Amino acid sequence: MNPSLPSNSGGVEVEDLDCWYGGFQALHGVTTRFERGRITALVGPSGCGKTTLLRCLDRIHERNPAARTTGRIRIMDQDIFSPEVCVRELRRQVGMVFQRPNPLPLSIFDNVAFGLRIHGEAERLGRSGVAAAVETALRSVELWEAVKDRLLGPAANLSLEQQQRLCFARLLPLKPSVLLLDEPCSALDAASTEALEGLMRTLCPGRVVVLVTHSLAQARRVSDDTAYLLLGELVEQGPSEVLFQQPRDPRTANYLGGHYG
Ligand SMILES: Nc1ncnc2c1ncn2[C@@H]1O[C@H](COP(=O)(O)OP(=O)(O)O)[C@@H](O)[C@H]1O
Ligand SMILES: [Mg+2]
Repeated sequence: MNPSLPSNSGGVEVEDLDCWYGGFQALHGVTTRFERGRITALVGPSGCGKTTLLRCLDRIHERNPAARTTGRIRIMDQDIFSPEVCVRELRRQVGMVFQRPNPLPLSIFDNVAFGLRIHGEAERLGRSGVAAAVETALRSVELWEAVKDRLLGPAANLSLEQQQRLCFARLLPLKPSVLLLDEPCSALDAASTEALEGLMRTLCPGRVVVLVTHSLAQARRVSDDTAYLLLGELVEQGPSEVLFQQPRDPRTANYLGGHYG
């Protein structure tokens, strides 16, 4: 065990993570930590392994039979590759939001209740408990006022920004401690992007938030920490204001200066 990664700090700790797709190595010895209560921006050129790293954190990469990893990942002090870990529980704790809003082809209400139902919690909560959890989640993402009179209408009728808010909302009843956001604003205009950035800050306290973004401006605006990934290698990571102003590694300086490739 690397002594630089104490095992009692909570958050997400990644140690010496390699990931291969067949014979192609996409991640090279990535060691990093994402802290609770902070937004970490993960930046780097297209194809550098940002999505791959996120997908390892909730073990979704295992759905690809060609994908293979070595190394360690601890989330809230638990080794996620340990045989005792229930992958369903892990995915409840680690929520993911994608580039394009992808609400289920269901009503607004059912989208948010879905997680509780598939995790067998709806029965325990009863109808009124589920309705309360749905309302709380929709209020948390500031969607309640806009949709409270059409909860049974299709989620697909919402605007793109509202659909993306819904995609955040549907994670919340499961009380995730980690939010993985894979370029969540890339389908949105500037005004919606700004609104969603505000939402990320609102949802951050008590949680680990990892924001993959191709926008350095966004990383600067919303993140506390920034990690720079290049060709599957974590080049540099630190508080965003330090990393953007005084990068230590010339490769980071190159990227931030717009000189990459
Ligand atoms: N399912 C896959 N099979 C094979 N190679 C993949 C797969 N997914 C990603 N890759 C490769 O792994 C590298 C990292 O991809 P990815 O994690 O998607 O990068 P990013 O999100 O930074 O754009 C790229 O070279 C990509 O082509
Ligand atoms: Mg990606």
